[in-house]
Amino acid sequence: MTDLKIRRIPFSFEDVPFIWNPENPGFSIAMNKLSFFAIGFEKYICQAMADVEPRIKDPAILAEVRAFRAQEGIHSNAHRRHVKALIKQYPALQEALDKTIKSYDELYASKPLEYHLAYIGGLESIFTPSFKLLLDHRHLLFEGGDARVASLMLWHFCEEIEHRSSGLVIYNHVVGKYLYRVGNFTKFMGHVKEVTDMLGEEFKKHVPGITDDLVNFKSKASPLPKIAKLRSSYGILMSQMPWHNPDHQALPAYFQEWSDQYDRGDDMTQTYGVRWEKQPELIAAE
Ligand SMILES: [Fe+2]
Ligand SMILES: [Fe+2]
Repeated sequence: MTDLKIRRIPFSFEDVPFIWNPENPGFSIAMNKLSFFAIGFEKYICQAMADVEPRIKDPAILAEVRAFRAQEGIHSNAHRRHVKALIKQYPALQEALDKTIKSYDELYASKPLEYHLAYIGGLESIFTPSFKLLLDHRHLLFEGGDARVASLMLWHFCEEIEHRSSGLVIYNHVVGKYLYRVGNFTKFMGHVKEVTDMLGEEFKKHVPGITDDLVNFKSKASPLPKIAKLRSSYGILMSQMPWHNPDHQALPAYFQEWSDQYDRGDDMTQTYGVRWEKQPELIAAE
């Protein structure tokens, strides 16, 4: 049976700034892209998990499918709250969200379920090395930022690491063709790039002050140590090897720290960064 925990965390993002970490505007934008992207991608995962259910007879795999789908559905809803708060301030950003969802809906309609399971298994397997890099260096990326967005991201990365095996377990059970999955990997990444590049263009169009330099943060102003980035890239490469088993991956220490905080009943909506407090309403003098 599955070990995944279903956690519902009541995030809210009232008036959240677009540049939610003024110390790191490029990273703020990269994470905003991730919020838009997650809505489309995780809706796509939920569709594939719903459609694969009838093909699965093994109760352990079925439990994994359902728990995986539940976690991704909750992630998608939390990111939707974040994105809605941004759209409230910059209404034209609705277009960015619509285009993201449309891109995944069209992909879903144009390819067989095997392809979607391979896409999901392939992408999910690179998340542990990618997000470990961000969690290990959270002080360089999230510190000084709005705790609501920082906590949304840290929660999501921890749960991605928790369900790191789900996508591959399901793909291997239902499809099982290694070469099909790995042979299509550049197509999966190409689609991800298409969506995230589109988001950068939409941000530049609709949010004042967003420039090319800020949008292309990843290749330029990243404050992360070179060696850690190399290690992460190596982990990503290894995650596509036939012998790769996500259960054997190195996990960030923060994963346990975050889980312990959650189990203690801490407020996980603002667990890292600068705490946001609602401003008292200004009462107009009579
Ligand atoms: Fe997720
Ligand atoms: Fe995931």
